[in-house]
Amino acid sequence: MNPLRCHDIADLRAAARRRLPRGLFDYVDRGCDAEVGLAANRAAFDAIRFAPRVLAGAAERSLQTSVLGHAQALPMAIAPMSPAGLLWFEGERELAEAAKEAGIPFTLATESMTALETIAREVGGTLWFQLYIWHERALSWRLVERAARASYQALLLTADTPVPPHRAFNNRSGYGTPFRPSTANIADMLLHPRWLAGVIGRYALARGLPRLENHPGEPKRTVLHAAAPETRLNPSIAWEDVRTLRGIWPGKLLVKGILRADDARRAIDCGADGVVVSNHGARNLDSACATSTALPAIANAIGGHASILLDSGVRYGSDIAKALALGAEAVLIGRPALFGIATAGRAGAARALALLAHEFDTVLANLGCRAPSELNADLIWCPAAIGPT
Ligand code: FNR
Repeated sequence: MNPLRCHDIADLRAAARRRLPRGLFDYVDRGCDAEVGLAANRAAFDAIRFAPRVLAGAAERSLQTSVLGHAQALPMAIAPMSPAGLLWFEGERELAEAAKEAGIPFTLATESMTALETIAREVGGTLWFQLYIWHERALSWRLVERAARASYQALLLTADTPVPPHRAFNNRSGYGTPFRPSTANIADMLLHPRWLAGVIGRYALARGLPRLENHPGEPKRTVLHAAAPETRLNPSIAWEDVRTLRGIWPGKLLVKGILRADDARRAIDCGADGVVVSNHGARNLDSACATSTALPAIANAIGGHASILLDSGVRYGSDIAKALALGAEAVLIGRPALFGIATAGRAGAARALALLAHEFDTVLANLGCRAPSELNADLIWCPAAIGPT
């Protein structure tokens, strides 16, 4: 589909829903348990209101900003999301290209289907790497060394996934880890021939089933195989791991999945350069608090001397403005980027980013701001009502 016919992220989501097998769309789109967290992420953004400043001379605007000490075109980065390569043939590469064109960082996930070296060599741009710590820590440290050698600039340690999430709808449909084929989910795929031929068909012709290319050893595990015991999620991840990473990782280090001010302080004490305020898009702990609710206290604790990024529920340019006004340096774009990829590959992801950028620019103008750096809590209506600032 021509992504230019999509006029907001909801349109891209609807287009992705038509193109993907139902079970795969649900894997991307849904949360977990009763899915109250998904709604809560949105409700918390929606509850924040602006107190716009009018007649403020904001005719000339720039969306340029500084993230982790580097200038970039927009206050956004692509969040790490493992299944990008299942939504489009070589989806990670497409997403990385779209990010590079937009002038923002792309975060490659540990569990992605394209090797980190391939993205660095064939796409480039500003690259960040997301790390899950495996049972055998030494293998994770080796992965970190590979990312450093490939010149990734930032490492995001995901701290909010000590165990695999429980998602009943994935277990029912077979779209779990590993994928479990059934009559129903194969019929679901056959009913989506453009996806089947364009993604799975192309992988089959090029190199067989999609594989987790960052995993150690050969042959690489495919989406049909369970993780080997040594590369399962390590439930004993601890603050000591942040200190270890600080010792072996030369670039910027962020801890992703922070929702408390004391944890944010601790991350910085352990050597991190910043945190990602995230509840993993409400995919892991359904009743975790919304990130825009958690942000003010975290900004109060570490703002000014550490970087704060935020994700989970960002769907409009106004959400980006709210996050920045409350103390974030930038936001990570999660599902909106995947809806774009699923709809039209790189062009779809570019459309998602362009829509969010345009909406953000419009909000800046309406608030009387000429740049992201002019956003602050003074532009939020009654900040006391949403928590400490
Ligand atoms: C994710 N996310 C994620 N995070 C991470 O640290 N490693 C990962 O491999 C993944 N994989 C993943 C897959 C899918 C399908 C989704 C939707 C998300 C979480 C992601 O980085 C980010 O925190 C959320 O997506 C943000 O929420 P929204 O914007 O999608 O609501």
